[in-house]
Amino acid sequence: MLLHRPVELLGMLLAGLLVPLKQAAKVEGVLERRVAVVGSSVLLLGPLNITHIHSVQWEHLNGTTFHTILQYERHNLTVHVPYAARVHLHASNGSLLLEDLRESDRGIYRVTVNQEERASLMILLDVLKPVSHPQLWSSGLVAKASGEVLCEVAEGRADTFTWKKDGQRLPPDRSYRLSESISVLYLRMAKKSDCGSYSCNASNGISWQETSLNITVAGLSPPLQDVLRISVVAVVFAAVSGWGIIFPVCQSEKLRIRGELWRWLSAYTCGLVCISSILTGTAGLLWMREEGPSIAVILPEIFLLYVIVITFLVASTVAFQPTKLTQLKSTTAQRTLGYAAPGGVLLVVLTSSFHMKNIHQRHEEGCTAFVDVTTLVVSTAAVLALPLLAIFLCYHTTQGWLQECDSGCTHKESSFEMSLPISKDSDLTC
Ligand SMILES: *[C@@H]1O[C@H](CO)[C@@H](O)[C@H](O)[C@H]1NC(C)=O
Ligand SMILES: *[C@@H]1O[C@H](CO)[C@@H](O)[C@H](O)[C@H]1NC(C)=O
Ligand SMILES: *[C@@H]1O[C@H](CO)[C@@H](O)[C@H](O)[C@H]1NC(C)=O
Ligand SMILES: *[C@@H]1O[C@H](CO)[C@@H](O)[C@H](O)[C@H]1NC(C)=O
Ligand SMILES: *[C@@H]1O[C@H](CO)[C@@H](O)[C@H](O)[C@H]1NC(C)=O
Ligand SMILES: *[C@@H]1O[C@H](CO)[C@@H](O)[C@H](O)[C@H]1NC(C)=O
Repeated sequence: MLLHRPVELLGMLLAGLLVPLKQAAKVEGVLERRVAVVGSSVLLLGPLNITHIHSVQWEHLNGTTFHTILQYERHNLTVHVPYAARVHLHASNGSLLLEDLRESDRGIYRVTVNQEERASLMILLDVLKPVSHPQLWSSGLVAKASGEVLCEVAEGRADTFTWKKDGQRLPPDRSYRLSESISVLYLRMAKKSDCGSYSCNASNGISWQETSLNITVAGLSPPLQDVLRISVVAVVFAAVSGWGIIFPVCQSEKLRIRGELWRWLSAYTCGLVCISSILTGTAGLLWMREEGPSIAVILPEIFLLYVIVITFLVASTVAFQPTKLTQLKSTTAQRTLGYAAPGGVLLVVLTSSFHMKNIHQRHEEGCTAFVDVTTLVVSTAAVLALPLLAIFLCYHTTQGWLQECDSGCTHKESSFEMSLPISKDSDLTC
């Protein structure tokens, strides 16, 4: 009777079977610990030094109460129904053979011989499935942010998880148990040195399995990758418009592109500068949303806004109301317009270079490959160059015709220039 209370306490501890059985096994002298695989058989030994056995009772602690498995009394054996086909008693020494083990057979077994308290014995039985191969995966790890590497076993209960990085055992306090089957390795501030091969060893009393995974830490979060792509596209826009600005300047005075073609070239170039400024401005805003505001980003944003407004006005005016431009008398206004596009290109290139330098620095804090922007650059450049090519093709076909009637068509040429007198001003490319 003395034994009943601690046993029931123990049973409550084991209820739900979540408490590591090792803890229970610490109660030495009372318990012997046995581990067996699901489906196998286990021989639970009776008390050793009993010479004459006339009665045996085996019980299983299920939850908080003992359930009788079998009773043996003067050659009269009674086996309780759920166990009928699975138990075999060695009447000579009181040992019990339990076959076809199930996970529900876990728990404490008690044997009482000759109805004597003195001759009773308790055995702690753990029935385990072999652990399956753990699955390892990580949350998207980004430099300077916290992240996790998770290890999960789908089958079988793992008692312990051990983590290794590049073959070195990691201290147990680096990881925690999320549930019975998941262990989480926590990375507080992911950095380059966290990259490497991680392995997780899930084990229980009867088996262990280990899985490895190469973990990389990305230097750039997805928004910063977008900043990079936008900046690169902005530079391509600026480069193509720069070409459109330089090309007419490099031509000799006589062969200079003029008339309708000049108008479209100017409108297109100015439009490109406007869009590239918008893109660069967007990249700056996205950067600040991720990294917080800084004066080095805000200042160019203000100039970019200025360039966006000017180039938009010029591009739309040149495209749709070319006569309006002739009304611009003041030379400062003309200068402003003339410098807006080249200045805008320069500003875009400088600002984007600054963004890309910052992004490259961030990228260096991780260990992934740099974002591949080749396709983006090539395809953007190809699409943007098409209208320019069309304009130049037109220019070259009409050039021959213009040269032929150079003397005869002077009045026609001057009428072109009348509508666009500023085309004489090489400064005013836009
Ligand atoms: C054997 O045990 C059962 C129940 O415990 C009882 O009904 C039966 O009379 C017993 N038989 C003998 C021979 O003792
Ligand atoms: C009891 O008997 C069985 C079968 O005879 C034997 O396998 C087992 O080892 C014995 N147990 C003890 C404690 O002697
Ligand atoms: C206790 O026994 C009942 C029926 O015998 C079974 O349904 C239940 O799963 C058992 N509980 C434990 C914890 O083994
Ligand atoms: C077995 O015998 C030893 C001494 O030989 C004794 O101390 C022990 O209590 C006995 N065990 C049981 C379960 O009777
Ligand atoms: C995994 O853990 C188990 C139990 O701790 C151990 O026996 C085994 O050697 C470990 N495996 C490796 C590869 O370290
Ligand atoms: C991890 O990377 C190394 C080389 O960097 C390679 O040899 C190894 O096979 C990789 N391991 C896994 C699990 O991908």
